[in-house]
Amino acid sequence: MSEYLFQVQQVSKSFHVATADVPVLKDINFDVRVGDFLVIFGPSGCGKSTLLHTMLGLEEPTKGKVLFLGKNLYNGVTEDERSDFRKQHAGMVYQQPNWIRSLTVLENVAFPLLLLGEDQPEALKKADQAIAMVEMQEWSSYIPTELSSGQQQRVSLARALVSNPEVIIADEPTGNLDYESGQELMKLLTSLNTKAKKTVVMVTHDLEYLSFSKTAIRMFNGKIVGVFGESDKDALMSEIRGKRGNGFDHNPSNSEGTKEQKQAHDETKS
Ligand SMILES: Nc1ncnc2c1ncn2[C@@H]1O[C@H](COP(=O)(O)OP(=O)(O)OP(=O)(O)O)[C@@H](O)[C@H]1O
Ligand SMILES: [Mg+2]
Repeated sequence: MSEYLFQVQQVSKSFHVATADVPVLKDINFDVRVGDFLVIFGPSGCGKSTLLHTMLGLEEPTKGKVLFLGKNLYNGVTEDERSDFRKQHAGMVYQQPNWIRSLTVLENVAFPLLLLGEDQPEALKKADQAIAMVEMQEWSSYIPTELSSGQQQRVSLARALVSNPEVIIADEPTGNLDYESGQELMKLLTSLNTKAKKTVVMVTHDLEYLSFSKTAIRMFNGKIVGVFGESDKDALMSEIRGKRGNGFDHNPSNSEGTKEQKQAHDETKS
């Protein structure tokens, strides 16, 4: 297998709004190694979600190319082929999960497999295993909306895992969670990364989650303005602590968190 999950090469993206082209991504270059836990961070509107969409084949760049598992996503590949490729190789988690409200947790988690043509008993068996990975088995027969936000995000992670993808892509997965549930979800993502060997790519504007990353990419105004490996993460964290209020959220970056930090976090979510 390729050493890289993603290779993003000279990617620019503009949106045509009214009579003007508005640049949103500007000459983005980076690779995501197999096994990485990459956190892409930066202030709201800097282009994080747009970047993820280009990486997943959902948004064609205006310039440049994206290789996903070595496949050049926008060169001679139809939208249907991109969609199939994405369903097989990437599991996605969003800030706000979407559920089929007439189905149970188990059936919702099995649903992506049915779309991929798997037969029902096999899909339900794999769904049960994915639910076990996020320790939510006792909630299998609930309707997802009956669960807390934190529990729902664990189930969306199970749904992302059910097709056994190489990479979990998470766009602000903790955005609606309180401090404790956010930390729990991050610990779960970490264990999927280290134990189940899933590559994780997560975007957030919340600095407290940087401590969970192996690699961090800082974006600002459509550009990459910093790449940090495990060896320079400590320097990054102390720089951020020293410069709160620089356009990012003010939330704490200490994963343990004091009582005051938890309170400050939860107040921003309410
Ligand atoms: N389909 C679109 N048409 C026009 N402009 C768009 C479109 N999608 C995104 N944009 C613009 O691109 C910029 C970046 O948006 P994006 O959603 O990628 O930011 P973000 O970093 O994910 O922000 P947030 O942290 O708030 O989710 C914004 O100015 C947004 O208005
Ligand atoms: Mg976004």
